[in-house]
Amino acid sequence: MSEGNVKFDVRDINLHYGAFHALKDVNMKIYEHEITALIGPSGCGKSTFLKTLNRMNDFVNNVKIDGAIHMDGKDIYRDMDGIELRYKVGMVFQQPNPFPKSVYDNVAYGPRIFGIRKKAQLDDIVERSLRQAAIWDELKDRLKKSALDLSGGQQQRLCIARTLAVNPEVILMDEPTSALDPISTSKIEELAMNLKKDYTIVIVTHNMQQASRISDRTAFFLLGEMIEYGETQELFARPKDPRTESYITGRFG
Ligand SMILES: Nc1ncnc2c1ncn2[C@@H]1O[C@H](COP(=O)(O)OP(=O)(O)O)[C@@H](O)[C@H]1O
Ligand SMILES: [Mg+2]
Repeated sequence: MSEGNVKFDVRDINLHYGAFHALKDVNMKIYEHEITALIGPSGCGKSTFLKTLNRMNDFVNNVKIDGAIHMDGKDIYRDMDGIELRYKVGMVFQQPNPFPKSVYDNVAYGPRIFGIRKKAQLDDIVERSLRQAAIWDELKDRLKKSALDLSGGQQQRLCIARTLAVNPEVILMDEPTSALDPISTSKIEELAMNLKKDYTIVIVTHNMQQASRISDRTAFFLLGEMIEYGETQELFARPKDPRTESYITGRFG
């Protein structure tokens, strides 16, 4: 596999929650226009690592982060504002979390914060974002309806549309399909594979079939360490570390 541009260069990240050492010397390069999957058993630090990429951990008390993460060559902890970063690096969570507002107002929320007020312009952004999230056809006649009345799978695609509306560069997904049925799951997987043309995607998943279906590279985490990282097909076919092999063959986790 040829190597594209490095989007994130993660260097010697150590993260402590109080006295607890949750990430240990993590080093990795995440490439633009790829899907990078993070796998590993519960509690091994996948979500913690994902949140270091958009500084969501800034909101946690007693958290201490050492090392550096560069995005496009810029140190995100020292040379970037957290709010600006989080517009560039959007996030989608396990439980779809639409606002208790209409479909339209969910998607227009971010653009309005940026000061966009003209209806025609907002209409365009809402349509473009819903199309990109593969949900325009289902929702175009329900834009005024409450987002809370949608199915779980529709809510998750709406949350992806809401993220896309502010023109991010990266989309972080933390187990985005684990609350969804198989059909909704495959829609999100297909969507992620289409979005990587324009974005960089990092996805945490419990589901190894999902990682192998959709990702270009996979990182295996265990107890706060990144044990192995490589091209997905290679990592699943020929894991180098016996702990990776045990995990992917289902011996623990
Ligand atoms: N805010 C927090 N304060 C203290 N410990 C935390 C916090 N968030 C996560 N942890 C701990 O850090 C470890 C890694 O958690 P997490 O990143 O959520 O794992 P994963 O996503 O792989 O299941 C776990 O032991 C968890 O209990
Ligand atoms: Mg998690």
